[in-house]
Amino acid sequence: MSRKQATVAVDVGALGARGDGIAHWEGQPLFVAGALPGERVLVRPGKPRGEGREAVLVEILEAAPQRFAPPCAHFGVCGGCAVQHLEPAAYAAWKHDQLLETLRRRGFADPPLLPLESAPPGARRRARFALAPARTGLAPAFRAARSHDLVIPANCPVLDAELLPAARALAGVLSERGVLELEVTRTLAGIDAMVIACRAPTPDESFDLADIAERTDLARIAWREEGRPPYLLADRRTPRLNAGAVEVALPAGAFVQPTGWGEAAIGARLDAILPAAGTVADLFAGCGLLGFALGPQRRVEAFESVAAMVAAARQAAMAAQRNTFRATQRDLERSPLDAAELARFDAVVLDPPRAGARAQAEALAVSAVPTVAYVSCHPGSFARDARTLADGGYEMLSLAPLDQFLWSHHLELVGHFARR
Ligand SMILES: C[S@@+](CC[C@H](N)C(=O)[O-])C[C@H]1O[C@@H](n2cnc3c(N)ncnc32)[C@H](O)[C@@H]1O
Repeated sequence: MSRKQATVAVDVGALGARGDGIAHWEGQPLFVAGALPGERVLVRPGKPRGEGREAVLVEILEAAPQRFAPPCAHFGVCGGCAVQHLEPAAYAAWKHDQLLETLRRRGFADPPLLPLESAPPGARRRARFALAPARTGLAPAFRAARSHDLVIPANCPVLDAELLPAARALAGVLSERGVLELEVTRTLAGIDAMVIACRAPTPDESFDLADIAERTDLARIAWREEGRPPYLLADRRTPRLNAGAVEVALPAGAFVQPTGWGEAAIGARLDAILPAAGTVADLFAGCGLLGFALGPQRRVEAFESVAAMVAAARQAAMAAQRNTFRATQRDLERSPLDAAELARFDAVVLDPPRAGARAQAEALAVSAVPTVAYVSCHPGSFARDARTLADGGYEMLSLAPLDQFLWSHHLELVGHFARR
């Protein structure tokens, strides 16, 4: 038996950032997916990862008392979820500790963390699927854990119940060549779908997709060739979401928070953090869903780089006669609001993409804005930008971890900063 195939018994000491159990063997860490702290496990060491190696779990010799029956039959094979095998309190402690560690690396020794709030199962209203060959056409799939394989889920406890059936119907009429992904979003008008491909649809695909939209009552189907704006193959109802009293018509490909639960939880935190009235800048605003939810008593100026989302926000404001809301197209990475422009705001909300808001955080750090609410889907870039704000004289007053990426290693955050 080669050394690579040999199994070894190891003790698992911790749960790592990606949900792997961490053991030690021959002086190096072993990352064991599916293993929990406190367990003794038989593993097969595999390929190098970082300063150690990945190892395949062969057998649990002694199980941890916190081990939990995973709610999904695909857990361990599907790469969508990292930690379903840990009882809820220990799971919350793991997310909390990962966040704490990320913040400590940026010099926040004792950050003011609020308790983790978690989305319920089935809350995910938007999903992007890979596509795998199926008996007829393609099937919606998730990428497997630690490989390039695809897993075709029979069901998924994370997703809204309407997403997978809609994705199955659509994928079934697609031909494999040049079709990359399928995104489905549940909106108040029904399912909004988009095929992402590196070619145009064939005449059969165009016909069949439009036919499915009729038969299964989908709101809209768009097709997006990489690098080009999406175009519509079925346009039965305009997909829309509500933010307070304002209804927003979503352009194809618009950003929406992955769960309605998350959008409401972020909104509740913002309401608690921001002054009850005054002028608020909503930066990286998308279609303005967070900004509209702040209500008419706050004057909101929204900034966003994607023209279609700015237009959607303006249209929504006009239709709702929300004359306290204004939307402007602007690239905030190349051209952040500077200290002089920021001077007119009582508070700033920023909700950048995963890369964070390096340039805008640097501009805020030298501004006089009294209150900053930083919404983030990436604790690493959040911690970097929080350091910039802290070095500029802001104090982090609270940080709310919102688990809208249930059972994954991802986390949504809302941080409250005030000028000292
Ligand atoms: C995480 S989303 C938040 C959207 C919105 N706050 C919401 O909750 O619906 C980030 C948004 O930032 C926008 N964005 C990305 N890069 C940007 C940039 N350089 N300048 C301005 N907006 C940008 C994206 O188009 C996207 O709408």
